[in-house]
Amino acid sequence: MQILFLICFCLYISFVNSLFCFWNSGCPYRHFSTKTPYNLVRGDIRDSQIKVKGCKPVSIWSLYRNGKSYPDKETANHMENAVSIRNYIAESYTKGKCSLCAQDVDNLINWKMDTKLFKGINALTDEGYQEMYSIANRLKATFPDLFSHLKENEFVFRPTAAGRIEESARAFVNGIDDRLFIENVKINDTITPYTSCGKYESEVKSNPKTYEEAANYQKSSEYLAMKDRVERRTGLDFKLTDENVTALYDLCRFTWSGINGIASPWCALFTSEDLQVLEYVEDLNQYYKNGHGSPTNVLFGRIILTDLLKTFQRSKAGEGKKITTYFGQSTAIDMALSSLGLFKDKEYLRSSKRNRDRKWKSYKMSSFSANIMAVLSRCNLNGKDDYTVVFYLNEEPIKSICLEGICPWNEFEEKFKPFLDTDTSFCDFNAIR
Ligand SMILES: *[C@@H]1O[C@H](CO)[C@@H](O)[C@H](O)[C@H]1NC(C)=O
Ligand SMILES: *[C@@H]1O[C@H](CO)[C@@H](O)[C@H](O)[C@H]1NC(C)=O
Repeated sequence: MQILFLICFCLYISFVNSLFCFWNSGCPYRHFSTKTPYNLVRGDIRDSQIKVKGCKPVSIWSLYRNGKSYPDKETANHMENAVSIRNYIAESYTKGKCSLCAQDVDNLINWKMDTKLFKGINALTDEGYQEMYSIANRLKATFPDLFSHLKENEFVFRPTAAGRIEESARAFVNGIDDRLFIENVKINDTITPYTSCGKYESEVKSNPKTYEEAANYQKSSEYLAMKDRVERRTGLDFKLTDENVTALYDLCRFTWSGINGIASPWCALFTSEDLQVLEYVEDLNQYYKNGHGSPTNVLFGRIILTDLLKTFQRSKAGEGKKITTYFGQSTAIDMALSSLGLFKDKEYLRSSKRNRDRKWKSYKMSSFSANIMAVLSRCNLNGKDDYTVVFYLNEEPIKSICLEGICPWNEFEEKFKPFLDTDTSFCDFNAIR
């Protein structure tokens, strides 16, 4: 009996082991916080557009995060150093100390280093260009009346300051019609109210307290156990520092091709549990820097949304644009979503407890190319003219703002009007860059 048990147990173990190969695992974990490729999270506006009988879209307001970009300089340096870790892994594999699958080790060793990855510093990647270009293509197919034959005064395309954001705007506009004009970056843009707010800079963005929960989480037993698992799986004979683990995580997520659907061999170093632990570190940072974790964030989101309200009020009065499109950072998107009360958990996110079912998940809000879109339609219902507003996040309808995702004009205006009174005098506007 005992022997039988032992045999079963061994079979079970070897079965489990064979399941752990990354290269042939059917559905690897694909949520990488703010470095998630757009294709891994997006819907498709062509399929998901909410159509209401008797209604015709007349104006679209939207806000985009830049498409996939190269890592910043510091991140790139750490990643470049960490590439050498694959040699240690290959060595420990030959010594029988590494429990990765043979093919996973092969794929890691055969992975071709793209020097642009480490030299591109913050620039938009080809994939990022294609993401933005394709979104515009899909919008054009969905709203042909709005996106074709645009006249000079019918559209606004405006990026905020950063090369990758301006390049994203270019890619998007090329996907519509490359002759269209892109506005210059504006200082004090309504889309970036936080950049000129001294208090946000000092009390949130540059305040170590903002990053404290994430830092504490990196000292938690859960985080340490993750590191330990990675060390044991790879069979390294040295300890990985937090910097090393983060660099390996970055290699995994930056080299995952969303457009071609090719998983990065670097992700084989992690189980999905490990990836969720690493994801939480970043979720915590985003939560306090951009989201519900700090009350000022919600105020800035309201300012961004007043631009939406005013845009649609003008359209309704017959003076609006067909297309109003802004391109910015994930900060703006997170703030706007927070002000809409979305992704809000009952309890604050803490280092002491990672709630797996939390609403706040940065991959949903701020993947590369993440976007919020609102579509204003003019309707004729029972002989009466009215307007509706429908919201989309990453090309999927947001159904929780109004019933079935369709806001009648009155309801929309009621919800957004209070935002007009947002008081940011606390800001101390001296910190203009
Ligand atoms: C690991 O991290 C340390 C600092 O924490 C760094 O000095 C070292 O170069 C890193 N090793 C690799 C292989 O990246
Ligand atoms: C930016 O906006 C704030 C608040 O509206 C204002 O006090 C400040 O003068 C503006 N700065 C510039 C350079 O326009």
